[in-house]
Amino acid sequence: MKPVRLGILGLGTVGCGVIAVLRRNADEIARRAGRRMELVRVCARDLSKPRPVNLDGIEKTEDPFAVVRDDSINVVVELIGGVRPALDLVTAALASGKHLVTANKALIALHGNTIFRQASEKKAMVAFEAAVAGGVPVIKTIREGLSGNKIQWLAGIINGTGNYVLTEMRDRGGSFEDAVANAQMLGFAEADPRFDVDGVDAAHKLTIMASVAFGIPLQYDKVYIEGINGLDCQDIVHAAEFGCRVKHLGIARRSGTGIELRVHPALVPQSRLIANVEGAMNAVVINGDAVGSTLYYGMGAGAEPTASAVIADLVDVVRMMTSDPENRVPHLAFQPDALEDIPIVTMDDVMAAYYLRLMVADKVGVLAKLTQIIADCGISVEAVSQKEPYTEGGAVPLVFMTHKVAERKMNRAISQMEQLDEVLEKVIRIRVETFE
Ligand code: HSE
Repeated sequence: MKPVRLGILGLGTVGCGVIAVLRRNADEIARRAGRRMELVRVCARDLSKPRPVNLDGIEKTEDPFAVVRDDSINVVVELIGGVRPALDLVTAALASGKHLVTANKALIALHGNTIFRQASEKKAMVAFEAAVAGGVPVIKTIREGLSGNKIQWLAGIINGTGNYVLTEMRDRGGSFEDAVANAQMLGFAEADPRFDVDGVDAAHKLTIMASVAFGIPLQYDKVYIEGINGLDCQDIVHAAEFGCRVKHLGIARRSGTGIELRVHPALVPQSRLIANVEGAMNAVVINGDAVGSTLYYGMGAGAEPTASAVIADLVDVVRMMTSDPENRVPHLAFQPDALEDIPIVTMDDVMAAYYLRLMVADKVGVLAKLTQIIADCGISVEAVSQKEPYTEGGAVPLVFMTHKVAERKMNRAISQMEQLDEVLEKVIRIRVETFE
């Protein structure tokens, strides 16, 4: 059988990783796919840059449209990232009937609904395993491995940069800025690292996982997003005193009223496996009604881990190119006409336990005023701890751990606390996730 002809857009870290692994494992990959793959064209913005792979024998161009318009190419692999010009390229590739493999999380989270519609009309395949958690095959796991389950919830550390920064702050007490700079140097931060620390990158990935898990359209605009940029080292230290670690989580959960979609820092008991995921590693816990909780762990970024996911998608595409289209796995795991309009729960209605840190004046009656507010707002306290002031005569850190309460009530309590003269700084609030 003739080889399947590939065109790659983007020769950055992932593009070069894909070429290296495609070459190294060519025989093994062909044995799995049933056909060989031939890389015929690659495109990069600047071809003069030195690259760690040998591109001899491959046609090279700086014009990405030369790849997507090349009629001899069967599959376009989009690895340039970002929404523009990726969306125009992908649209053009699908319009000409090419299949698409992409690692572009922003593109799928924001424009996936349209892309999938176009692909279905053109009977083209779109595969995006590498868009979520790099080399960890969570999309395939949810879409295929867990397809007998009603997924109840999933929670993940899905941004390696954020997890690396939190680990560095805890272990080395280093500054936030230094940790971000290291992540950039190590090559797993986004081109603009604000996407990592603001939680946008994790929200893109959560959007995709939630759709595949619950059979809902992609709804990035409904994700509640808090980054790690407001976190202070002292809260990481206090959390440890309560037996918890601070992790930046993406959580999607069925509740009584709909589906929660949220990305924020959370205190996680140290005894949970996910609390021990360190550095740039990713991990996703998925809970299904039949299987219970399952955990997937691995490299969420990097050249070859991401290439592993891209090539797995290529193998799927190559296998499917000769199979009955009716038997293909749907993009969002559920048939397009079976997607449900389950409401997304507003943050006000989300129930969570909280860690609160207040910096208060060391005066008689402060604690009484605070506990009165807490009681009036219907919040139950699990533990409270008063710390030594960080400087002599300075503000006193007061840490509360609460039981679960609706976010609406907590917002009311925090706003009343912040109005007290004795509360000297903005109240720090981190939700607690125990995965019970
Ligand atoms: N910047 C991302 C991360 C890369 O740190 O996880 C992989 O998507």
